[in-house]
Amino acid sequence: MNTAYLNGRLVPLEEATVSVMDRGFLFGDGVYEVIPVYGARLFRLDGHLARFERSLAGIRLTNPHSRAQWRTILERLLEVNGDGDRYVYLQVTRGPAPKRDHAFPGAPTPTVFASVSPITPPSPALAEHGVAAITREDIRWKRCDIKAITLLGNLLLRQEAVEAGCAEAILIRDGEAMEGAASNLFLVRAGTLLTPPKGPFLLPGITRDLVLELARDNGIEARETPIPAQWLHDAEELWVTSSTREILPVTRLDGEAVGAGRPGPLWTRMHALFQGYKARLRTGG
Ligand code: PDD
Repeated sequence: MNTAYLNGRLVPLEEATVSVMDRGFLFGDGVYEVIPVYGARLFRLDGHLARFERSLAGIRLTNPHSRAQWRTILERLLEVNGDGDRYVYLQVTRGPAPKRDHAFPGAPTPTVFASVSPITPPSPALAEHGVAAITREDIRWKRCDIKAITLLGNLLLRQEAVEAGCAEAILIRDGEAMEGAASNLFLVRAGTLLTPPKGPFLLPGITRDLVLELARDNGIEARETPIPAQWLHDAEELWVTSSTREILPVTRLDGEAVGAGRPGPLWTRMHALFQGYKARLRTGG
């Protein structure tokens, strides 16, 4: 998995280099996607490309390719990178400019980069123990719906979680829980699955969409609703979701047990539904 795509060419990853004048390097001026691949199939490609289009529009950058072109580029990249479960990382920046200037260059030449990495399936220990998380004030900007490569807020918060021996930081803004530093948030309260509604303060996750769909299709009561931060502490179950970590049951929050302190029955059910969805995708169902 060491062939990358850079500006129209397939190149060995270690030879894929860009100018130090690239606005991605100088300003974090770009957007990205992370797309899981199960078997040879791109997971919910249309959903990822639709979000990518919204991210590009959000930073006023013209999409360099049509959806059909993106599909061709990514499928070719996957072909030359072997098989198995993986994920594609895709990034577009506003490209190199002759001088460092905050204002956009007149006619940008975007830098387009994609690579493939292994994806690690959730370990069996996870189903038994779950993971620990901390809560932190959300220090990020007000356009968290854009999947921007400018991630310093997210990085500082995730690092705090790691240093506390935790898997994730759950972010609180104005008294409401929004999402994780790199994941969306679900909780079970009075037997109902709840998640904060989409808006400028959270990333509209593709895994989140699927969890809501699986709930609806399988008679699990689910609702999008604002989550007061104190609900985290008396939740029956708490989960975080993302493309690379699937559905993680959070069983300790700020050092206290969540619910019974073990992954709950609704997580067990949703995890099985999610694994079933992946298995059908692999076999083309
Ligand atoms: N991050 N919220 C944030 C802030 C995220 O960074 C992510 C994913 C999600 C979940 O979105 P999705 O289900 O579409 O992966 C929510 C990716 C995996 C990353 O930055 O590597």
